[in-house]
Amino acid sequence: KEIAIGIDIGGTNTKFGLVDKDGETLFQKSIPTRAEGDVNEFFKDLQESIQGALKNFPDVDIKGVGIGAPNANYYKQTIEHAPNIRWGTIVPFGEIFKKYFKYPMVMTNDANAAAIGEMVYGAAKGMKDFIVITLGTGLGSGIVVNGQLVYGHDGFAGELGHVIVNPNGRYCGCGRKGCLETYVSATGIKRTVFKLLADYTYKSELRAIAFDDLTAEFITQAAMRKDPIAIAAFEYTGRILGIKLADTMVHTSPEAIFLFGGLVKAGDYIFKPTLEHMEKNMFPVFKNKLKLIPSGLMDKNAAVLGAAALVWKEFETP
Ligand code: BGC
Ligand code: NA
Ligand code: ZN
Repeated sequence: KEIAIGIDIGGTNTKFGLVDKDGETLFQKSIPTRAEGDVNEFFKDLQESIQGALKNFPDVDIKGVGIGAPNANYYKQTIEHAPNIRWGTIVPFGEIFKKYFKYPMVMTNDANAAAIGEMVYGAAKGMKDFIVITLGTGLGSGIVVNGQLVYGHDGFAGELGHVIVNPNGRYCGCGRKGCLETYVSATGIKRTVFKLLADYTYKSELRAIAFDDLTAEFITQAAMRKDPIAIAAFEYTGRILGIKLADTMVHTSPEAIFLFGGLVKAGDYIFKPTLEHMEKNMFPVFKNKLKLIPSGLMDKNAAVLGAAALVWKEFETP
């Protein structure tokens, strides 16, 4: 049976899946990412886990490996200036990969992989112009125009997490100030909660929680229990997101934007303010046209599926 190995590298965990052409996952595993020090340590862990998994599937024919990673470059197969993966400023990932695996490999940004997953197996099937935004530790995006993922001249296009929304704003892992992801992401909303707790005296169940223990899921639950700080944090997040989504319309005029990640489970708490401020700030010709949709792969690993789908796209001649 022909399969592709899809890998989603994150700052905390790396997930891989053995995926067939229909997007059926035969096996999936998550291993901790050794995100600091020598990248060879990471490769040794990965090699061992993948070899271990393949022992149980002796009859598979591996077509290739697809990788999604933050700050990854599709053309050069490098990871560059990644704030949460500290293997060096410019990591020649593709070259090192060859020392550990003999399979053909294709690599892209993690959110680009999620966009491909959405396009091939998710809610964007049949759509030609759309954007996928992933809200996790950071904010990632994959931009599809005319059925093609946009890589741009140098292969880094689609880094919407690092558009500046406030030049004097919060410090970002990229070294600058006020990037979108410092406000709109699981980490960003936590920062907002702590700012609101400091600025207002409202009674809030969030007051008792330490920064490291607070999660986006917990903020969501608090909002559902009508916690005023949690609700205000979603409104603040949605306003900034909405304004920036309106901006994307002037660049590529997508039919829809798909939102992926834990924050999306907050439903109307996040969607209502986002939509409101998106429409309020929309360039008139685009008013009431852009659809905002939760990802169709919410409970699956969109980036693993998309990275695997990329293998069929790259290495199969029809
Ligand atoms: C990185 C992106 C990545 C996103 C989500 C951002 O901080 O710069 O490359 O797609 O986080 O992981
Ligand atoms: Na991207
Ligand atoms: Zn940044």
